Amino acid sequence: MLPVPSTLLSLTFTLLLHLTHLPRPVSADVQPFTIYDNVFIPPDYVAARNFSPALGGSQETIRQWANLTVQTAPWTVTSKPIVAPSGDKKDYMSWAPYWWPNCTGVGNTTVLSPYQEWLTCPYYQIDGDFNPYRLTVDDIGAFSNVSDAVLYNALAYSFENTSASNIYSQRIVKIIDTWFLDNTTGMNPNLNYAQMEGGPKGQVGTHTGVLDLHCMVKVVTGILVLRKLEAVDWTADLDSRMKAWTTQYLTWLETNTLGIQECASLNNHGSWCFNQVISLKILVGDTAGAVNSSQTFFQGIYQGQINSTGDQPFEASRTHPYHYRNYNLAAMITNAQLYKYADPSANPWSIKTKAGTTIQDAMDQTMTVNYNTSGEADDIAEIYPNIAAIAATYGDPSGKYVAFLEKGFPEYAWDADFFWNQPLAGSALVDAGAAANGTNGAAAPGKSGAVRTRRLGNVVAAGWVVLSAFVMLL
Ligand SMILES: *[C@@H]1O[C@H](CO)[C@@H](O)[C@H](O)[C@H]1NC(C)=O
Ligand SMILES: *[C@@H]1O[C@H](CO)[C@@H](O)[C@H](O)[C@H]1NC(C)=O
Ligand SMILES: *[C@@H]1O[C@H](CO)[C@@H](O)[C@H](O)[C@H]1NC(C)=O
Ligand SMILES: *[C@@H]1O[C@H](CO)[C@@H](O)[C@H](O)[C@H]1NC(C)=O
Ligand SMILES: *[C@@H]1O[C@H](CO)[C@@H](O)[C@H](O)[C@H]1NC(C)=O
Ligand SMILES: *[C@@H]1O[C@H](CO)[C@@H](O)[C@H](O)[C@H]1NC(C)=O
Ligand SMILES: *[C@@H]1O[C@H](CO)[C@@H](O)[C@H](O)[C@H]1NC(C)=O
Ligand SMILES: *[C@@H]1O[C@H](CO)[C@@H](O)[C@H](O)[C@H]1NC(C)=O
Ligand SMILES: *[C@@H]1O[C@H](CO)[C@@H](O)[C@H](O)[C@H]1NC(C)=O
Ligand SMILES: *[C@@H]1O[C@H](CO)[C@@H](O)[C@H](O)[C@H]1NC(C)=O
Repeated sequence: MLPVPSTLLSLTFTLLLHLTHLPRPVSADVQPFTIYDNVFIPPDYVAARNFSPALGGSQETIRQWANLTVQTAPWTVTSKPIVAPSGDKKDYMSWAPYWWPNCTGVGNTTVLSPYQEWLTCPYYQIDGDFNPYRLTVDDIGAFSNVSDAVLYNALAYSFENTSASNIYSQRIVKIIDTWFLDNTTGMNPNLNYAQMEGGPKGQVGTHTGVLDLHCMVKVVTGILVLRKLEAVDWTADLDSRMKAWTTQYLTWLETNTLGIQECASLNNHGSWCFNQVISLKILVGDTAGAVNSSQTFFQGIYQGQINSTGDQPFEASRTHPYHYRNYNLAAMITNAQLYKYADPSANPWSIKTKAGTTIQDAMDQTMTVNYNTSGEADDIAEIYPNIAAIAATYGDPSGKYVAFLEKGFPEYAWDADFFWNQPLAGSALVDAGAAANGTNGAAAPGKSGAVRTRRLGNVVAAGWVVLSAFVMLL
């Protein structure tokens, strides 16, 4: 390599810092940290605190995200500008993303405000086309933040080798208390007004809205970690109040028509519904129930989700088939991880669908899909955590999973998910790369503040690639 003048180096460094701090569009879909489709981490792995030195970069990323996720904390459903049709401020509410008003036949004589349109005009669906007005009410974005903040702060807490109170556990307590438990700000344990379609007939929730809370799995992971580490801030009182809330919500999920319909959905919606039911049963200590629900999933809708060529027909038919294949993969992976945790003697990873295929077959098929065909280049990053999870679980004897990661996402060892997708670190390539890059137990230089988002894809990913090149120069 040619010697690089130090002035050029520092100029490059300055430019790169600016590049990573470019203003980004702000929406619920774009955050300065990665919102994984879902995350379940066995608490025993975290509590053992026996982490490979190759995980230093991913741990540093998690520490940074623990701080980034709490910037607007705490969150409450009572802060939204509009109250649900029940009139109860504590009712969760969201609007179905793909529904649009059609005011043609309404007979209005003046222009209607978006809110008047929402009350007055019939709504119709355009699959895949987000209605931006839905974000006027952002309980869904707030909950997404709750789940990520709890997850990353619980992991950051575990890195501190303590059970004493610290900033990370204090944040979690405040966030959980405000969102779920506090008498004036806590969400009622139901989703009666989730993903309302809008219009006179759309002032009630739809079963697809149950999806809004699928990242309860991240909250469950965080709480299990605090419990396992005996964090003093996670008191017996908090634990029993959270169990009480969860028990009520589980009853709603399993008896309300919306919950029943959602878990009966044949596609990703059904898979995500089981993510919630299984993880919440684990949280309340109903292990037998968690195993039963896991079996219901794998003997039920899972059977029809992967065909003999490994494709997922219910996702392949959507307008964003690349995204949806990965989305359902993440849900199936999470159900398998939860099942394995609830019953260590089970082997969900080898359970075959009625077409004779496994989750790994679905992964392998998805890796052959060209995201360009459906114009989904922005969604490419969604595949990497799935590949890491599959490689960590099934192994990677031919090296094809690691090769895919190296090619498309060479920074993967700094991604947060690398921390929990273990023993992927066992791959020689990763260990050699991490050691050569000097990441043993420490962050890679220049990575500080670097961020990656899924939806934004290209812009931020470009920042990462340039940054990595710079790291190698050093
Ligand atoms: C996160 O925030 C805490 C508390 O302000 C601070 O001590 C810590 O250095 C921060 N960590 C990172 C990686 O920014
Ligand atoms: C909009 O409403 C008009 C009048 O009721 C109807 O003719 C038309 O088909 C509707 N368009 C859509 C896309 O639903
Ligand atoms: C009725 O409301 C719609 C939606 O705001 C608007 O586009 C339309 O122009 C209105 N009609 C009249 C006559 O003002
Ligand atoms: C979620 O967190 C992000 C990052 O801090 C913030 O930009 C966004 O406004 C938050 N969303 C809500 C609904 O609070
Ligand atoms: C926690 O313990 C690990 C392993 O002994 C060590 O590498 C790490 O530096 C410790 N972290 C803190 C914050 O003390
Ligand atoms: C919250 O409300 C419950 C009953 O509705 C009551 O028992 C409890 O004392 C209240 N807690 C606080 C902190 O006000
Ligand atoms: C789960 O439990 C229900 C109720 O006890 C039972 O009817 C069902 O057969 C069980 N499902 C499985 C897969 O064991
Ligand atoms: C599997 O599903 C895909 C997507 O729907 C379809 O193109 C393919 O023909 C199916 N394969 C078989 C063997 O049915
Ligand atoms: C998708 O298109 C981009 C831009 O043309 C190209 O760089 C990339 O290699 C394509 N990806 C695949 C998998 O064909
Ligand atoms: C060092 O990290 C970069 C990504 O930042 C990666 O492309 C490279 O392969 C790594 N070095 C080695 C020797 O693996």
